[in-house]
Amino acid sequence: MAPEYWGRGVASRLMQPLLGRFDDWEVSHAGLFTIANSPQHLHLYEKYDFWPGFLTALLGKPVGAARPPSGWLRFSTLTEGQQAECLATCRALTDSLYSGLDLRGEIDAVASQGLGETVLVADDAGLTGFAVCHCGAGSEAGSGECYVKFGAAPGPGAEQRFGRLLDACEALAAEAGLPRLTAGINTGRHAAYRQMLSRGFGVDFVGVAMHRRNAAAYNRPDAYIIDDWR
Ligand SMILES: CC(C)(COP(=O)(O)OP(=O)(O)OC[C@H]1O[C@@H](n2cnc3c(N)ncnc32)[C@H](O)[C@@H]1OP(=O)(O)O)[C@@H](O)C(=O)NCCC(=O)NCCS
Repeated sequence: MAPEYWGRGVASRLMQPLLGRFDDWEVSHAGLFTIANSPQHLHLYEKYDFWPGFLTALLGKPVGAARPPSGWLRFSTLTEGQQAECLATCRALTDSLYSGLDLRGEIDAVASQGLGETVLVADDAGLTGFAVCHCGAGSEAGSGECYVKFGAAPGPGAEQRFGRLLDACEALAAEAGLPRLTAGINTGRHAAYRQMLSRGFGVDFVGVAMHRRNAAAYNRPDAYIIDDWR
């Protein structure tokens, strides 16, 4: 919003119809990312029943010598039929983490707009995780960076699956010649956050997740999910 309009009630007037639209769509969970230490931002969203949860950390690391895990592939290399099957499996994976969570539109947007790549990790039993990555200038990553907009590795052995997914994202960045890998994660996803720190990610910026009706959705300790809601 242009600075001359700040503090004049514009955001408050926008929130009411926005929430009405969410209700029309029967959105089961609404949340947002905002500035953690701003009383103004917290007050604004609390007025509309959004409450602060855990911090969300925006993380980054230099891309190291490629250590590609076996069994990872790019969504863009699949045939049309394989892509359709893959999208259905991705939907099932995220639905197992939080009912209704569906990234098919995001995967499709990255593919059709040439913004990056969706990384897929599989084992003998099939797809175990995926990450929607933006790559370089002209995408949400920005120049020289590979940004994991969303990643998930649920199910048995999620800790190892998540590690392989991070390795695959780093391999993608290395192959694309991008020197930095970035990703945001809510610190309420404690196990995933700790694993990222232990793999050399550092904190670039900290915000806070605010949840409508104070429902934490998938910001829980065992959820191996990467996203930051910006
Ligand atoms: C943050 C932003 C969206 C707010 O929009 P806005 O139109 O200025 O907000 P409003 O005037 O509708 O509401 C601001 C509320 O904060 C309150 N407020 C202002 N300063 C405050 C403070 N220091 N402590 C507590 N409350 C404060 C105001 O009193 C008002 O509440 P009220 O309606 O109950 O009186 C706008 O300032 C902006 O665009 N900022 C820059 C970009 C940005 O921060 N975007 C949002 C990222 S999540």
